[in-house]
Amino acid sequence: MSTPATDQYFPGLEGVIACETSICSLEGRGEGGLAFRGYSIEDLAESVSYMEAAYLLLHGELPNSGQLISFESRIKSARPVPEALIQLLHAIPPSVHPMDVLRTSVSVLAHYDPDNGAVSTDHAANVRKAERLIAQMATAVAYRERIERNQPLVPPRDDLDHAANFLNMINGGEPSETKRSAFDKSLVLYAEHELNASTFSGRVTVSTLSDIYSGIVSAVGTLKGPLHGGANEEAWKVLEQVGAPEHAEEWIASALARKERIMGFGHRVYKHGDPRARILKRYCTKIAAEIGDDRWERIAEPIEREVTQQKQLPPNVDWPSARLYHYLGLDIRLYTPIFAMARVAGWASHIIEQLDHNRLMRPRGQYIGAPPREIVPLAKRV
Ligand code: SDX
Repeated sequence: MSTPATDQYFPGLEGVIACETSICSLEGRGEGGLAFRGYSIEDLAESVSYMEAAYLLLHGELPNSGQLISFESRIKSARPVPEALIQLLHAIPPSVHPMDVLRTSVSVLAHYDPDNGAVSTDHAANVRKAERLIAQMATAVAYRERIERNQPLVPPRDDLDHAANFLNMINGGEPSETKRSAFDKSLVLYAEHELNASTFSGRVTVSTLSDIYSGIVSAVGTLKGPLHGGANEEAWKVLEQVGAPEHAEEWIASALARKERIMGFGHRVYKHGDPRARILKRYCTKIAAEIGDDRWERIAEPIEREVTQQKQLPPNVDWPSARLYHYLGLDIRLYTPIFAMARVAGWASHIIEQLDHNRLMRPRGQYIGAPPREIVPLAKRV
């Protein structure tokens, strides 16, 4: 079926519908409209674990107890990564950006995947690859962090769930239930978000019938940018730059006067606020109170108020997640890799959906270059 190409140009593809999807809606249920397969993000954040959310995204339904037990058992068995990757994680120079290390890690994992010989459209093989990626990207991120800290690797533990195991591999000790729960909720909130730039790049990649690993590598590279996943790192740098609550008003006034782009604010789709930011802010307030230090909340508040009021740009998910990860004792270099290891469930679901019902994605470019002209022979060119 070929339809006439539109002759309209939408910068940044703003508002363009590029595919049909059953995975996520931003106009679905709940306060902000965000829903995974019909369940609102408010209900999901309240009631399900990241493992349940990942199963829902990949398999289309929330798991029953038996399905969840076997899914978690497959994820736990897949946590160990190839020795060759561990050696490479040690060999990559410490100055390399953690998202570049993760991009390389996904590429290396592809070489050792037992289903690597399957055709790219093999649905069952793609689901198995997706489950391995959910397990192994977390291991790769945790191992690299320990190497960055010059600390011994902490192997995965089968008696810990996804969130607790990751925090244990990072810190060498089990997290409190409050921290485990808050971290797990952040993974649910980061798990999926319709056709954001990184998900779109994953879908474009496999629309050529390339493989799921190539699609995830594309997505990791796309997420790194500060306009997208890299914003949670940048949001923390804003808070650190302000440093104290008494400096916040002056800082934001001067930043807005300089027309600075304030990281963690604004969204291409949400114009009345990101529901995930509202949910995460509640966790930030709770944990700040528990640790007895609300300084960062008191720095964030005036910035949030001024940017929302003066620019009509409410905070997005990256604004509170930066504070939450600080409260969990996570280094800033982990912020975007954590976003990626959560979002891989959404990326993989979209990639599998694309491969199951594929059409090559090939938009047009509006030509604004030189008019038609003849070639001047080299000897006569000035
Ligand atoms: C994520 O798409 C998704 O779903 C992404 C995501 C997901 O879950 O996958 O939700 C995750 O990426 C969230 C966004 C994280 N990025 C940031 O926080 C970076 C800061 N935000 C912006 O750069 C911006 O708001 C975007 C990139 C998020 C959206 O930008 P748009 O829709 O392209 O809007 P724009 O850049 O064209 O800006 C429109 C106007 C401009 O002013 P004018 O030049 O017209 O006068 O709004 C201004 C911008 O300058 N503006 C900002 C601003 N964001 C937009 N001004 C100050 N601070 C900001 N953050």
